[in-house]
Amino acid sequence: MLKGLEAPNDPDLLVGYDTNDDAAVYRVAPEIALISTVDYITPPVNDPYWFGQIAAANSLSDVYAMGGNPLTALNLVMFPSKKLDMGFLKEILRGGSDKVREADASMAGGHSVDDNEPKYGLAVTGSLHPDRILTNSGAQAGDALILTKPLGTGVLFNANRSGKLAYPELEAILPQIAELNRKAMEVSLNYDVHASTDVTGFGILGHALEMAQGSHVQVDLFYDNLAFYANALMMYQKGETTGSNKANRKLAAGFWEMGTNKSAEEQALLFDPQTSGGLLIAVPDSQADDLVAQLKNEGVETAVRVGEIVPAERPYIRVV
Ligand code: CO
Ligand code: CO
Repeated sequence: MLKGLEAPNDPDLLVGYDTNDDAAVYRVAPEIALISTVDYITPPVNDPYWFGQIAAANSLSDVYAMGGNPLTALNLVMFPSKKLDMGFLKEILRGGSDKVREADASMAGGHSVDDNEPKYGLAVTGSLHPDRILTNSGAQAGDALILTKPLGTGVLFNANRSGKLAYPELEAILPQIAELNRKAMEVSLNYDVHASTDVTGFGILGHALEMAQGSHVQVDLFYDNLAFYANALMMYQKGETTGSNKANRKLAAGFWEMGTNKSAEEQALLFDPQTSGGLLIAVPDSQADDLVAQLKNEGVETAVRVGEIVPAERPYIRVV
């Protein structure tokens, strides 16, 4: 989006927008860098408290994806104050505030405007050591890829909205969707992480491709290892989809191939946009099994090895 604008020329801007990374990183002292990120979303569910929690976890995730700790958060609120009860807004903010507290960060303010449809998220400031930044551009041939949460939130949210999926079925997985990526990041920092990002709007294939592009490598994704939330495939089979699938597929066109036989619905899951998705982490193959075991030990039970990095002439994704 910012391509074509004059790039900033500041040696302390350690991570800017040129590499499609999760957040900006700015060195303020030799041993301290600040992480800045902002994100807001429309309600994935009707329940305002869950909306607040999921939106906040989604915003905080980009700090974790960089290997940092969140310090402060500001609310971004768009709300139809004449159409919706203010109690609804209170519940959204309570959800956000509870997640920020869970992250051991401080809610420090925010800004709200009237809008036709509610939107909510956070601007988050975090910190880390400038030598320990995790980017999406360090993956190396011989690395294994680990994903920490299942996929399929996009189609499930839509299916609930259209009546194909009963709310209790969706409600059952909301705690996992709203889970912070904090634990996943903390455990990973004990390993030699070469690259890290979180899986969000572009889907697993799109975010793996960003990593491949940033790192100048090929990613082989093991389709049968990918974990999907219950009912996600079934919702595609019932004709549900998302507004992002087509665009996500178009963005990746020419940069990927199916090396295994999967139905159109199974392939659609590769492009399903995630809200508050898991971390995608590249570590040396020799450390991968141990990292997955440690993640499971620490409560990140859905962590799984989903691919490997192979040398390539150009960034590419092969689904095998
Ligand atoms: Co991100
Ligand atoms: Co983001």
